[in-house]
Amino acid sequence: MKKQDLVNAILGERCSLAACRDQGRAFAPTNIALCKYWGKRDAELNLPQTSSLSISLGDKGALCQLRPRAQSDSFSLNGQSMALVSPFGQRLKAFLDLFRIKHDFYFQVDMQMNIPYAAGLASSACGFASLVLALNDLLAWGLESRALSILARLGSGSACRSVVPGFVEWRAGSSADGMDSYAERLDENWPTLCIGLLIVSEREKPLASRLAMERTVATSALYSAWPEKVRADLHCLKKAIKEQDFRLLGETAESNALNMHALMLSAWPPISYALPETLTAMQSVWKLREQGLLVYFTQDAGPNLKLLFQAQDREQVSAAFPSAEIIQPQLIE
Ligand code: PMV
Repeated sequence: MKKQDLVNAILGERCSLAACRDQGRAFAPTNIALCKYWGKRDAELNLPQTSSLSISLGDKGALCQLRPRAQSDSFSLNGQSMALVSPFGQRLKAFLDLFRIKHDFYFQVDMQMNIPYAAGLASSACGFASLVLALNDLLAWGLESRALSILARLGSGSACRSVVPGFVEWRAGSSADGMDSYAERLDENWPTLCIGLLIVSEREKPLASRLAMERTVATSALYSAWPEKVRADLHCLKKAIKEQDFRLLGETAESNALNMHALMLSAWPPISYALPETLTAMQSVWKLREQGLLVYFTQDAGPNLKLLFQAQDREQVSAAFPSAEIIQPQLIE
């Protein structure tokens, strides 16, 4: 099945020029996975091998404004026009191709992100999610979050988790058309949970996550153990969130991230997103834990770490990592 077939099945009769408004606008938070999505069972539809679980980062993410245009798309990111030939520009254009109401229908996309772009902080997740939500507004689709999550998934897998706030589970699903592979919010809130964004480098990642996933699934001898690791970690994370057991949450999230990176190291040719500074920061976290401070980390397809800790330890974490930007995603929900 192709992306366009799935889009047509979801939108049905909704795509009409008559319904198009002057502009569409929407915000989507970025999300950090506590149990990672690593490996696809269908590369065209971004269907994952396993389920995953994330936390959306409150007001950190992307605000997307869309306007219809008569000639060619135009993109801007944080007020700067973005070349259509840039990698992100090309991905956005290919994605928008799925939603043109008629052949000469184009979009002006103005996106504002308040997280560093392409530094492994899931900018593609909030970017594609905000784009889908803004399309829903512009074209007056009136879709529910399940359908919006499926559409966002076609832009970037992890984007399906960014259409809702809070703790979010993306159920892998099993159907070939991917209609049962979408993200849903969990009921629980955890207002004292803090995330520290520890940027060790803003360089763009050397290898796209799509290629790194493909290579890992194809060559890592450890990959066969990953689905079972995910099942166990999802169980622990849900228990930790329900019981507000921070130690269990931190241990599970850190172990899950390290297992994902171990898969990549065991791929061939090997993949490492870590820089020497990443390992130094990990060692600092481990040392702080030895000293009794409950701080953990997770790491995505980039060298930066996201620290996990509780509000009561904020000062101590800030003292140890003065450059970390601290977010309390569920403080004011
Ligand atoms: O959605 P993608 O293709 O950018 O992949 C995201 C992969 C990780 O961020 C490493 C893990 C995750 O679940 O977000």
